[in-house]
Amino acid sequence: METTLIILKPDAVQRGLMGRIITRFEEKGLQIVGCKLMQISQQLAATHYEAHQAKPFYAGLVRFMTSSPVLVMAVRGNGAITIARNMMGATFGSKANPGTIRGDFGVSNSFNLIHGSDSPEAAERELKLFFAPGEVLSWKRDGDGWIYDTSGGKIE
Ligand code: RTP
Ligand code: MG
Repeated sequence: METTLIILKPDAVQRGLMGRIITRFEEKGLQIVGCKLMQISQQLAATHYEAHQAKPFYAGLVRFMTSSPVLVMAVRGNGAITIARNMMGATFGSKANPGTIRGDFGVSNSFNLIHGSDSPEAAERELKLFFAPGEVLSWKRDGDGWIYDTSGGKIE
């Protein structure tokens, strides 16, 4: 099982799209194991996006991410990191395919609604940045037996 960090960015919160986006993850069968509304500080945005520090879009990105509350989620499932990235779609709303979150809900390249960790290493690092120990729960969903086939001894 993998856990990934998802952020519903300020545009998603302000546009009232949180519920519809969360529903997509729930309907897919991914499990929400952590969730909170928060205002990202300058320092946290800088740390989270430190890989982009030298990029021309960095200042605008930090301004955007700290401008208004975001919803951060820890989302768990078999292959959750790649599944979530595929559900999000391409980075730019103008390029993202229909059927993806960015493709269906936005047209902007900067206001692209959602962040998702892009690798297991990034997920581990980012989850620690946004969630304190104890804020990510391991809990049993009663319907899990119908989400995954475990009859062969592994998760299929
Ligand atoms: P994210 O990190 O937010 O999940 O997005 P991503 O992996 O799809 O894209 P990434 O390359 O990591 O870029 C991080 C965020 O920076 C903004 N961006 N603007 N104007 C530009 O050329 C540009 N490139 C990236 C986007 O908000 C992107 O989500
Ligand atoms: Mg990224």
